[in-house]
Formats: sequence, structure tokens, C-alpha cells
Amino acid sequence: MDRSNKPSAIGVGASVPQPTISLRDNTVEATLPSGESVTIHLYGATVTSWKLANGKEQLFVSEKAHLDGSKPIRGGIPVVFPVFGPPPQNHATSSLPQHGFARNSTWEFLGKSSSESLGKDRSGDGSVKLDFGLSRPMLTEYFQKAWPYDFGLVYSVTLTKESLETSLQVQNKGSQNFDFQVLMHTYLKIDDISDIRVKNLESKTYADKTQNAAVITETSPAVEINKETDRVYQSLDPKVPIIVSSASDDKPIFSITREGLNDVVVWNPWIEKAKGMADFGPDEAYKNMICVEAGSVAGWQTLEAGDFWEGGQSIRPRL
Ligand code: BG6
Repeated sequence: MDRSNKPSAIGVGASVPQPTISLRDNTVEATLPSGESVTIHLYGATVTSWKLANGKEQLFVSEKAHLDGSKPIRGGIPVVFPVFGPPPQNHATSSLPQHGFARNSTWEFLGKSSSESLGKDRSGDGSVKLDFGLSRPMLTEYFQKAWPYDFGLVYSVTLTKESLETSLQVQNKGSQNFDFQVLMHTYLKIDDISDIRVKNLESKTYADKTQNAAVITETSPAVEINKETDRVYQSLDPKVPIIVSSASDDKPIFSITREGLNDVVVWNPWIEKAKGMADFGPDEAYKNMICVEAGSVAGWQTLEAGDFWEGGQSIRPRL
């Protein structure tokens, strides 16, 4: 029988555009239906590109960065674990290289969840979450000897239309406690360092690594970068965003909130240090980057046998 008001068939999800994901040459790329994209190298689980729908890149990667796994990638978001900076002497991390082993180990792609499976907060927003794993058996023999703990890391990179979120879960799979530091060493791409102001750091203390880690209280409501800058701001409220803003229009370029990451490193190598880094280029590129690195690095997190820890950041760009 022919019915004039017969409803059309109800599609089962087929009509909702989904993110596209590819794994090729040890690199995972995801693109949202709305056009935003992210690229992650399995080496270091380093996010090396984050583009907005208009194609504008948000992360700085040095033109001379090594992308072949021979050296940590100079740019993007390298993951620092289990030690920040040069390891202290007489410590369980003492034999590790600067910034640990996570950024120079090859991670495994564990898969994705898209908005449909990410719960009601995300339903219909077309976001995608990509998970990466690293555990003790995946480390080189050298790293296994240098840091003798049984651990598992799950690093999640979530791309939404409005943000990039990165979070790390650390599991102690062994029978001894271990101490760790962690940091998301984010290289933000900017047009001109002289126009940058970093806000919401006023009255916070920082260790100035350009002055033998002298502890100083920040007096500026809008920190300018006009020389080599290497500061570890400590004990911040992670819910208060760090704002990277433009002095010319006083508007945020990036806003960074954190969870479980109470320290923030602000780093720019400036002229001489930039020239001195073999994998940093071109020389003037220090003008086009600022590292704002969310971490837990001022002290140590102690993780008891069998326990988990989680922390992360959310970066919102000017749209
Ligand atoms: C920053 C440190 O996090 O990383 C700086 O505070 C360091 O001291 C910078 O120079 C870069 O480190 P690397 O090991 O990637 O050259």
C-alpha cells in the first residue's frame, strides 16, 4: 500500500560524519569532519602538528628537527618522563638522559575513540581521542637498565573543534614504589615573540634556570619574553588558565588549563641558545615559538606499587 506520509528509513549512525584516521610511516593522523587535524609520531608519541579548520598550524616544529627516531623531536609536544631536565645525582633517574626516555622511545598506537563512544559530553561534537602506550618491555635495553621499574603509560591525545587535550596515565606495575616527574613540553607557534605576553603568573614563584635556579616571585601580570627565558613556575592552580596573549590587541592566542599538573615551564632559547642547538632552525625561529610546558616537575610524584596517576592539559586556541 502506498502511504503519502510514510517516514523515511532511520539511519543507524551512518549519516554522522566521522573523523578520519590513518597510521602510516609510524605516524598517526586524524582529521575531524570539520577540518581540524592532528599528527602524532609514534617516536616519543610526539604531537607534531595541530591544525585548525582554516589550516593554521598551532605547534612549532623546527625545520631541522629529526623525524627519523635518531633524536627527540625538536618541536610539537614531546612527553617528558620520568625526569625533567638533567637528572639529579644519586637518584633512581641518574643514568637517564635529560628529560628521560618517553620522548625517545617508540610508543604503540592503542586505537581511537570518537565522539560516539566518548560519552554524552562529547556526543555530536565530532571529536576524536587517540591513545598511545609505552611500557617497560618496549624500552631499549639501555633504558631498562637505567630505570629498573615496571611501569605502563597511556597517553591520550584528544582533538576537538575548540581544543587539543593531552593527558598521561602512569601505572606502577611493579612491586616497588617509584618517583617520577612529568611534563608536556609544548612548543606553541606564534607570529612574533615581541608581541607575546604570558598572563596569570603574577605573584607566583619560579626557579630561574638562567640564574642557577634562583627562586624569584613574578611581579608582572603580563610576562614579556625579551631574552633567554627558562623558568619553572611552581604550585599554580591548574584550573586557572595560563594565557598566552597578544600585546597588540590584548586578546588570548592560547589558553592552557591543566589537571594534576601544578607547575608550568616557560622557555624560549633566544638568539644564542637557538644558534647553539644543532636541530633548531632557522636561527631566527626563536621568534616564532614559545614553550609553555604543563608539568609536575618542581618535586617528585611517588607512585606506590600497583597505583595509577593521571594528569593532563587542555589548550584552547584563538578561533
Ligand atoms: C626546557 C628546559 O623544558 O627544555 C630547558 O627548561 C631546556 O632548560 C629545554 O633547555 C630544551 O631541552 P632539550 O633537552 O630538548 O634541548
